[in-house]
Formats: sequence, structure tokens, C-alpha cells
Amino acid sequence: MPAEFIKVVRVSDLPERGGKFIRIGDDEIALFRVDGKLFAINNVCAHQHISALHQGIVSGVNVTCPMHGWTYSLETGKAVSGSGCVKTYPVKVVGENVFIEVERAD
Ligand code: FES
Repeated sequence: MPAEFIKVVRVSDLPERGGKFIRIGDDEIALFRVDGKLFAINNVCAHQHISALHQGIVSGVNVTCPMHGWTYSLETGKAVSGSGCVKTYPVKVVGENVFIEVERAD
């Protein structure tokens, strides 16, 4: 399936250690800025499939789901508390603009 980088926000739109909800097609994405690095993971928690991870608490490079506390690595998407994983997305910055790579259906 082909993939392409989509421009989503400006770096200055991202609060440090805060998450931002981004929808690209069917992908619901949580974008985080942590110590100047950007991470994009699927926003839907593996526990009860609630789209809430952008509202999670960031600690180190992990985010904790606000619903029941499952915690994921922002680097790998793997659960470090709970089980399973969430998809990660490549992120790049060009100038002030943030791009996320998603797969296209066509
Ligand atoms: S829905 Fe995320 S921990 Fe339950």
C-alpha cells in the first residue's frame, strides 16, 4: 500500500508534553512533542478501543491512557503497562511544518 507524508500542523501548535488529535482519512492519530522530539501513535487505545490517547499523561517517552491507565511507549507503540500495542507513524519536520506518513487506500 503506498504511503505519503501529509502536512498536519506547525511545530508551534504542539505544547511540550501535550498531545494533539489528528485525523487523516480513517487514521485517528495522537501527535506528541517531548523534549523537542515528535511522536505519532494511533489514538485508539488497545484496551477498550477508545480514541483517547491524545489526552493521556506523558511521562518520559511514555503516554498513559486517561481511561484506565494502560501505558504505551511513544517510540515503539508497545504497551509497557497493559498489553498489546498501538501503531506508530513516521513524523518529519520541514521548516515549521509537521508531516505524518500514512498509508493511502489507492
Ligand atoms: S481504554 Fe485505554 S486503558 Fe482502557
